[in-house]
Amino acid sequence: METKQLKEVFAKRFGEAAEALYASPGRVNLIGEHTDYNGGFVLPGAIDKGITLAVKANGTDTVRLFSVDYDEECSFGMNEADKPEKNWARYVFGVVREIVKRGKTVGGFDAAFYGDVPLGAGLSSSAALESAFAFALNDMFGLGVDRFELARIGQATEHNYVGVKCGIMDQFASVFGKKGNLIRLDCRSLEYEYVPFDPAPAGYRVVLIDSCVKHELVNNPYNRRRESCEAAAAAIRRRHPEVEFLRDATFDMLAEVKDEISAEDHDRAEFVIGEVQRLLDACHALVKGDYETVGHKMYETHDGLSRLYEVSCEELDFLNGCAKKYGVTGSRIMGGGFGGCTINLVPEARYEAFIDGTLADYKARFNILPKVYDVVVSDGARRVE
Ligand code: GLA
Repeated sequence: METKQLKEVFAKRFGEAAEALYASPGRVNLIGEHTDYNGGFVLPGAIDKGITLAVKANGTDTVRLFSVDYDEECSFGMNEADKPEKNWARYVFGVVREIVKRGKTVGGFDAAFYGDVPLGAGLSSSAALESAFAFALNDMFGLGVDRFELARIGQATEHNYVGVKCGIMDQFASVFGKKGNLIRLDCRSLEYEYVPFDPAPAGYRVVLIDSCVKHELVNNPYNRRRESCEAAAAAIRRRHPEVEFLRDATFDMLAEVKDEISAEDHDRAEFVIGEVQRLLDACHALVKGDYETVGHKMYETHDGLSRLYEVSCEELDFLNGCAKKYGVTGSRIMGGGFGGCTINLVPEARYEAFIDGTLADYKARFNILPKVYDVVVSDGARRVE
């Protein structure tokens, strides 16, 4: 959909022209998975796909939303008791509530929005939605909230209105994204640095292969991973009070508490401690243009996510195997796991054989044709018109 059509949809639905248009993207993450809520580092970038919304203040205390993708409308008030039934509307309701909780005044508004970031692919469509609305409301109502807090508002929405105890990576990338750059983010201090990212001159391409499966698992496995990490960190802290998060722990410290925590919690912590170091190693290699090392680290990450963190699945392991088979430099699960995409660092010369071979192999094995997305690292939340 073009912005022109979105404006037409808005005008038809709400009987007047929109005041402004805003957009916020999804994200990729080159390496550093499940490290954000452990106080560690991540290396995400915003992508050229996201959520676009048209909006206008309506002078009431009611929000009226129209989702183009679901072809559904939803209205709600701004008090805690007004939580809407519709799942997709809860993200926006959460953003409004989190802004209000911070002592800011938001008026009623009308908004129509659509997205081109695939749902359930691990590209953070929900962070895109949260960031688009947080950014838009801040700008439109002149709230004076800084970008760090905008990211936190999106994260708090996940925690308090969606039920996912996520880290800050997705919302941060969506708000702070910069064309041509990844963001090396310290998730404890929120200090960040833009890392120019253009593997093309060195002969590489980054591509996502979408397994097109999303395993809906019971008992919120994401939150359970986080609880495991916190349990391991707490055990280590009893001996080493300086350990605030697993990010501060070493393999030796983990070995000391081996008998005090469950085998499962031990495996989870082992992955995270390794992953924090892998990210630092990969960043170091990236700055030197050493893509072979970056790729090697990506394969190690996949192995850890599959074996120790157990957030992979048959389909993602199969895609990882295809990457190896077709000579890809690095490949791994991207995002939370349990389905979604692999991110692949591919030598230009092997690109075609990799894509063609993988699509055919995957189709033969699972009878699904995976989707392929070229990664274009793009700008974060912004006003479009
Ligand atoms: C999801 C969460 C992020 C992060 C990743 C895993 O995308 O929203 O906060 O934890 O999983 O790295």
